[in-house]
Amino acid sequence: MSLRVPNHIAIIMDGNGRWAKEKGMPRTYGHKAGADTLRKILTSCGELGIKYLTVYAFSTGNWKRAKEEVDTLMFLFKTYLKNEKKLLMKNNVKFLVSGRKEGVSKDLLAEISKLEEATKGNTGITLNIAFNYGGRAELVDAIKEIVKNNEKEITEETVEKYLYNQLPDPELLIRTSGEMRISNFLLWQIAYAELYFSDVLWPDFDEAEFNRAIACYQQRHRRFGGTE
Ligand code: FPP
Repeated sequence: MSLRVPNHIAIIMDGNGRWAKEKGMPRTYGHKAGADTLRKILTSCGELGIKYLTVYAFSTGNWKRAKEEVDTLMFLFKTYLKNEKKLLMKNNVKFLVSGRKEGVSKDLLAEISKLEEATKGNTGITLNIAFNYGGRAELVDAIKEIVKNNEKEITEETVEKYLYNQLPDPELLIRTSGEMRISNFLLWQIAYAELYFSDVLWPDFDEAEFNRAIACYQQRHRRFGGTE
């Protein structure tokens, strides 16, 4: 049994829409509250000494949502990129984005590059935002690059070299809101991750619930296909 905190946590931040609906508010209100929760959980991660946090902010499938909701998610992300720099620098956070560039506006891509560049020397936690991300799309993109670069020997390391960002695999994947699906998130990277499903809707996900997820992870026996 390991009582260490995970090195890398991945989170599917689900339930923003239902949370807003419960309050008689538009779904976009839930996404705004979700962005606040992300800020708090990032702080908790820093305090616990977690080195990487990857969150699913926009999937390749999310383009199917109503235009107003897609526009709000784009706007929220852009606002986050513009406003968060000071806090990320103060907390020594390295900022990265994993996802496809196609479909994302030029100015949003420019803001992403700016923030990645500004924070690249930071050595505390790495915040990796999965945006316009799909696990299958990531693998297709990696395979295309492997072919283009005429790689001769194909090993697991070769594939990993071509994923969007070269981060260690997450040890713990959390999904909020009671849904028990992976939804095309980090398909390669979660091969051996422990899964934790919380009934709490993402805007209500707090430090206490986060600590419960980590405590549950610490009770798990990780075997990686072997025996104890
Ligand atoms: C899933 O809830 C959540 C999303 C698709 C978007 C996640 C975005 C945020 C938490 C805020 C923005 C992030 C940044 C980085 C600023 P849902 O809408 O599917 O909820 P539902 O299942 O209740 O409908």
